[in-house]
Amino acid sequence: MKQFKLECSPKIFAGENSFEKLGEVAKELGGSCAFVVIDRFLSEKTDIKKKTLCLLENNNIKAVIYDRITSEPTTDTGNECVSIAKESGCDITIGIGGGSALDTAKAVAGLLKNPGLIEDYQGIDKLKCQSVPKIMVPTTAGTGSEVTFTAVFIRAKEKKKGGINSRYLYPEAAILDPLLTLTLPPNITASTGMDAFCHAIESYISKKANFITRPISMEAMKLIWKNLPVAFENGKDIQAREKMLYASFLAGLGLANAGVTAVHSLSYPLGGLFGIPHGTANAVLLPYVVESILPHKKDLIEEIAHGISGTKAEEFMMKLKEFEKFLGIPQNLSQLGIPANCINELVEGAMQVKVPLENHPVELSARDIVKIYQAAF
Ligand SMILES: [Fe+2]
Repeated sequence: MKQFKLECSPKIFAGENSFEKLGEVAKELGGSCAFVVIDRFLSEKTDIKKKTLCLLENNNIKAVIYDRITSEPTTDTGNECVSIAKESGCDITIGIGGGSALDTAKAVAGLLKNPGLIEDYQGIDKLKCQSVPKIMVPTTAGTGSEVTFTAVFIRAKEKKKGGINSRYLYPEAAILDPLLTLTLPPNITASTGMDAFCHAIESYISKKANFITRPISMEAMKLIWKNLPVAFENGKDIQAREKMLYASFLAGLGLANAGVTAVHSLSYPLGGLFGIPHGTANAVLLPYVVESILPHKKDLIEEIAHGISGTKAEEFMMKLKEFEKFLGIPQNLSQLGIPANCINELVEGAMQVKVPLENHPVELSARDIVKIYQAAF
């Protein structure tokens, strides 16, 4: 058997009301002053800010709250957070929200112990020192950022997305409380849920997948296939919300160990150039990327089809498109408003997101990527 490694972090606290443990967990990790990044929508629509302050205060932990994070954060936003956290003497970070809040909290934790700007560390293994401890509280069931070593930011001037990828960014603790996901609107439930579905499928088909990650990725796919439509239709269904939160975590675990593949490479430029939300960009491209794999790796797609829908690969492809249509996901790039004359720019952007392309089960040339984008228009 070929060699592989499995990274297992963070410590998980899960279940209804597990958020109540936030203060204790922060204290256990040695925090005295927390930099807390909260998603703006969540901060405006719920009492999460007040509750967070109370939970930390009860454990004698000071808190500096940044609650202006929206989707797809830029390096400027991230650097602003780093400055505030440094000036305030923070020694632990907490991310509460979707991937943007979590990624920002991770990056700030890294830069509290490494000098410079976020841009200096975008790439692989560029952080030199361990970060301060970080606690992740996902309130969308999508990015799996609570279990990965990545923090993604857009460099606004270049219109490019880039991740800080470092073992020092693995969170020490994650709190998976489904009660925090109940206010998520249907369209965000759908797009973030589809991001998790992409993590699950892509980590399953990745060249780096192994006998431990495959069952994890498969379980995530099954849970999402069954529960995402339920959570989309009825956001208050606590069971479906809980299953989605666990599925997103499992998909993130698959992704952290086996990586993602071409869907994520091809979706990056849609975010960087056109600001398309990450989950939506992935969801739109997914059927076209899977279709392109089918003639070469039918066995893999058959396994997925059989595992989650009990069908053959071709029927699964139809069901996948119906699944996305039900969730209100645009069916092609034209519906996303992407101009067809920008394919060369998209291909150039996708080719720069190398690691997922290396993980992809089929080697893709620039010409192959052109074909996938063309099919997706
Ligand atoms: Fe993703």
